[in-house]
Amino acid sequence: MRAEEYFREKGELINRTLEKLLPPRDDFLKEITDAMRYTLLSGGKRVRPVLALATYETVKKENPDIIAPIVASIEFIHAYSLIHDDLPAMDDDEERRGIPSNHMVFGEDMAILAGDGLLTEAFKVVVEGCEKAGIPMDKAASIVKLLSEKAGYKGMVGGQAMDVRWEKLPATLTILNEVVARKTAALIEGSVLMGGILADATSREMERLSEYGKLIGIAFQMVDDLHDFPEDKESPSYPRIIGIDATRKEVERLTKKAKESISLFGEDTILHSIADFLRDRTH
Ligand code: IPE
Ligand code: IPE
Ligand code: MG
Repeated sequence: MRAEEYFREKGELINRTLEKLLPPRDDFLKEITDAMRYTLLSGGKRVRPVLALATYETVKKENPDIIAPIVASIEFIHAYSLIHDDLPAMDDDEERRGIPSNHMVFGEDMAILAGDGLLTEAFKVVVEGCEKAGIPMDKAASIVKLLSEKAGYKGMVGGQAMDVRWEKLPATLTILNEVVARKTAALIEGSVLMGGILADATSREMERLSEYGKLIGIAFQMVDDLHDFPEDKESPSYPRIIGIDATRKEVERLTKKAKESISLFGEDTILHSIADFLRDRTH
């Protein structure tokens, strides 16, 4: 199956799974649960959980649908990161996915809390998902540790911390690579590795998956930067530091390298197709 169709099918599976996992509207907690639901269910490409499913399928050569309620946890973390990223103290963005951002609808106080609620819930989703699928708790613990590392202060949060102090850092490619490796690539790599853990990947396979995840993670941010650049010339971005043409060439080079890094699984797996699909995406 090619990536476009895969994303359509598995993206729908993740949407249905998220619907079931989300806190139902609660009389006393109506505002916070509405705010959490608002961003978690407002579309999104579902790149991270779909990558986890595709990795599981590639390594284990089995239908990955059974792990959907576990890997959906990454989308809770991703949604929290977007809500906080849009806040006035951060990027101050009034829109996300073509609709008003979370704080524009629910207020800054509730948006902060909705992010906190989503992040915390993610870890319960992992453990409960493993329990229900009969997956041993040592695997749940490995995944909780992995997600904490990739989303935490050495990973995504650290990248965001560097991003908000960008003006104080030297505007070089080396620094930009450091920011992006953390703020975007870490969670994408974590998604791939989560699929690997659940599929019982060997340590050698995990190394190759880590390399693949890091490379497509950086390329993902480059593609995002290319889309945003005409309107946003201020933020730290690849087109701003190395130019549009060089950024395009880097996307091509990193995608090729990512595909080479997983050659031990075959030459034409769904992960190969996804690397190309993410390179060519238009949104
Ligand atoms: C946007 O991520 C933020 C970045 C890390 C570049 P996505 O492009 O995956 O966002 P959605 O979930 O599809 O809206
Ligand atoms: C999004 O980063 C948030 C995280 C990576 C955590 P950006 O600020 O680069 O992306 P957009 O443009 O808001 O989606
Ligand atoms: Mg932003």
